[in-house]
Amino acid sequence: MKKPLPIDQLTPLEARAEHDRLAEDVAAHDLRYHQQDAPIISDADYDALRRRLEAIEVAFPELRALVTQKVGAAPSEKFAKVQHAVPMLSLGNVFDDGEVEDFVGRVRRFLGLSATAPLAFTAEPKIDGLSCSLRYVRGEFVQAATRGDGFEGEDVTANVRTIHEVPHRLSGRFPDVCEVRGEIYMRHADFAALNERQAAAGDKLFANPRNAAAGSLRQLDAKITAQRPLHFFAYAWGEMSTMPAETQFEMVQAFKAFGFPVNPRTVLCRSAQEMIDHYRAIEAERAKLGYDIDGVVYKVDDLALQARLGFVSRSPRWAVAHKFPAEQATTALRDIEIQVGRTGALTPVAKLEPVTVGGVVVSNATLHNEDEIARKDIRIGDTVVVQRAGDVIPQIVRVVEEKRSADARAYQFPHHCPACGSVAVREIDEKGEVDAVRRCTGGLICPAQAVERIKHFCSRNAMDIEGLGDKQVEFFFEKGMVKTPSDIFTLQQRDEAPGNLQRLRNFEGFGETSVRNLFAAIDARRIIPLNRFIFALGIRHVGETNAKRLARHFGSFEALRRVAAQAGDAQSEARAEINGISGIGDVVAEAVADFFCEAHNERELDLLLAAVEPQALEEVKTDSPVAGKTVVFTGALERLTRDEAKAQAERLGAKVAGSVSKKTDLVVAGPGAGSKLAKAAELGIEVISEDDWLQRIGEGA
Ligand code: IVH
Repeated sequence: MKKPLPIDQLTPLEARAEHDRLAEDVAAHDLRYHQQDAPIISDADYDALRRRLEAIEVAFPELRALVTQKVGAAPSEKFAKVQHAVPMLSLGNVFDDGEVEDFVGRVRRFLGLSATAPLAFTAEPKIDGLSCSLRYVRGEFVQAATRGDGFEGEDVTANVRTIHEVPHRLSGRFPDVCEVRGEIYMRHADFAALNERQAAAGDKLFANPRNAAAGSLRQLDAKITAQRPLHFFAYAWGEMSTMPAETQFEMVQAFKAFGFPVNPRTVLCRSAQEMIDHYRAIEAERAKLGYDIDGVVYKVDDLALQARLGFVSRSPRWAVAHKFPAEQATTALRDIEIQVGRTGALTPVAKLEPVTVGGVVVSNATLHNEDEIARKDIRIGDTVVVQRAGDVIPQIVRVVEEKRSADARAYQFPHHCPACGSVAVREIDEKGEVDAVRRCTGGLICPAQAVERIKHFCSRNAMDIEGLGDKQVEFFFEKGMVKTPSDIFTLQQRDEAPGNLQRLRNFEGFGETSVRNLFAAIDARRIIPLNRFIFALGIRHVGETNAKRLARHFGSFEALRRVAAQAGDAQSEARAEINGISGIGDVVAEAVADFFCEAHNERELDLLLAAVEPQALEEVKTDSPVAGKTVVFTGALERLTRDEAKAQAERLGAKVAGSVSKKTDLVVAGPGAGSKLAKAAELGIEVISEDDWLQRIGEGA
């Protein structure tokens, strides 16, 4: 065979010809390998072809599009969902040697083992990729699923089929049903080459190898995945019809025998010290591995002991990840900006001279709150150490004081909201401690909070305006049609005003009928139960329960408003009255007073009350068969929603509780009821069905 020309000596025409030939060859080999399971060349020869093809594409990026077009199939809509037969859990983290010793101590204590009884752990690198579950039935690869939320992942079978290191057929003696789990990852060199190609083609760059691996795997078109060099390490399992081994270490050896790559740096350790030593050894080798790892995973070796240890919430008690310290970099702090969140929290954000930290360009970092800025004595113009660990928001660790220049200036945290100008305050909690967070009191009129608050105002348990879901609220807000809750009630009038050229019915997605229905839905809420109205205002700390307490106590909105507007002074009689309501404490009383004392809110309330008439709570019945009883609903209800059942019970004078205790009088159980039912049986509490309940309250069919 003729020795191929160096790529930089190819003319564009030659490049094009060779590229097309290679692309065709690679596609043909892919087909034989992936779909027919009958490769006709060695992996090494195949890799050489691919590398040459990729190199030509780097040098002649215009050729790249041609191939993808040629081999690309129509992408499917989205990935199908896969229920994991055995959940895919995550790991708890530890960061220092002491915590490793604590972990070993905890395991020993749980198992009732003395400090000297033999106990082995495996230690292996924690690969920074994405985990995947591979299912084999009678040795045939049948399905691959991503982790997803741990219980349900995405079906990436077609994509995983293109990964060379994942066998299509298992070797050796394997269980009938065999789910092998491990990490899909990308090597540094492949990541760099991929990003080069992306850049040459004008496509988006990947921030790090993990993102590149995830982006490559989650391609709707598996042909694209096939062009991305992904690798796999097996380290765990899901469903197994029979267990091929009795220890973690042997399980991994079994995976190797089945044909999977396993990490060569997996060792057995017999003490915390041996584990820590292995961690240090791996840490020292980290830069030379050629792929990203973010720590070392320790697992109890004996599977019978793993079973005894079990799980706490979503992590195994028998394993832990010993993470490497977060990655850091130094840069200049240019400025501090304030972001206003949904609940009015003012969060300082550091604006940084862009810097690469752990492979990602960082130009913003959180400063948490004003105390943090003071504690770290962070000044604008300072040189700061930025840290990022995994997916968390980058943080400022400290100031490099030696580099502080004379013109670095201290930052004055604003006492007014930058979005609306209202006063921003730090609340005092029950323990008398000042909240670290400063919040805008602008409530309904603060634009930063406005959209989220309008969504809340319209939501099901608040005003319950049909046709004003989150999307519609965002639409109206963007268009400037609804900036505050009161605007909702003038929407129709403004829409129908003569001369209005922006009629709603002419917008895409709004027909004549839907506009009419929307206006009708809005009108239907002009009369609203007082408690719902109070809840809809989104006053801090006033959820549904406190809204009800306030409604019951005051009886009318005017009464609440009159008192609350005078409650600004913590020593006032008005404040004492709110404070005195059963279930309402200092924090809530202060939040209520703050809300009603803010001038902007007062104006908005005037506008709202011109459109809406809050109605006093329905009288609570005292003569119903369930009055004064404590009821617990559990399991699925079929004729009522939970909220309806609760509201109905409360109207009838019953108290609805969330859990069964000695104080419970009655448990209403639907299908699927579990522990609450058992508890009721144990305590001898009466249990009835939903139908019985409806009968009892006189609503039965
Ligand atoms: S064991 C039940 N071993 O880390 C425990 N996980 O933080 C199953 N990971 O979701 C996980 N390398 O994606 C295990 N050698 C290793 C690992 C590893 C990377 C990932 C995996 C998991 C995450 C948990």
